[in-house]
Amino acid sequence: MRVDVVSIFPEYLAALDLSLVGKARRAGLLDLRVHDLRDWTTDRHRTVDDTPFGGGAGMVMRPDVWGRALDDVLGATGGHLVVPTPSGEVFTQRHAEALATEEHLVVACGRYEGIDARVVEHYRAAGHRVSELSIGDYVLNGGEVAALVMIEAVGRLLPGVVGNPASLVEESHGAAGLLEYPVYTKPPAWEGLEVPGVLLSGHHARIERWRRDQALARTAARRPDMLERLDVATLDRHDLEV
Ligand code: ADE
Repeated sequence: MRVDVVSIFPEYLAALDLSLVGKARRAGLLDLRVHDLRDWTTDRHRTVDDTPFGGGAGMVMRPDVWGRALDDVLGATGGHLVVPTPSGEVFTQRHAEALATEEHLVVACGRYEGIDARVVEHYRAAGHRVSELSIGDYVLNGGEVAALVMIEAVGRLLPGVVGNPASLVEESHGAAGLLEYPVYTKPPAWEGLEVPGVLLSGHHARIERWRRDQALARTAARRPDMLERLDVATLDRHDLEV
């Protein structure tokens, strides 16, 4: 997969050299390129923003600068344009899964009060898939941190990036639609707290049952909205006793 990120703070994206995503880049599984939006300015001051038409606080990013940048990086690939914004759809594992099937993503990181609305309109009209996505109901200073979140969530789904693909299946927000059960490792007793006995029993069916009960109870307590969306066809008769 190729991912291009355009930002006025390309240094923010340095974290993508680290950990699994960094390894994926070095292994050639992810071709990630970070660009400075100001490279597409034409004036002496390298201006990327201006005051909003209609008045109001803050500055808006200019469509002409973004247009030159995106024409260059989207190129002829028919790439999928991702625009992190607090007014987007809330980014979920489902978005990550869909984006992970794309060959080329271009992430346009806005700052200030956002990017002139004609930019998204123009690239949609030109036939590009365009996703305006929020990473949650809070406001960041710009799209860079949201881009880091989305690229990590997408990057780890690319074939070969996570060593053991089974770990993608069981985790929270995976196929079961439940939060993950609590996990434990050695030592079996720590600070007076014991690992639940069932996990030391070696009884696989009981362990499976205990984990599913824990996942259901946790989801009910912390994310009742997820429980409501659960497909009843995925429930077994013991689930209903939890
Ligand atoms: N830019 C500013 N806040 C954001 C958010 N919550 N999600 C995505 N992009 C943003």
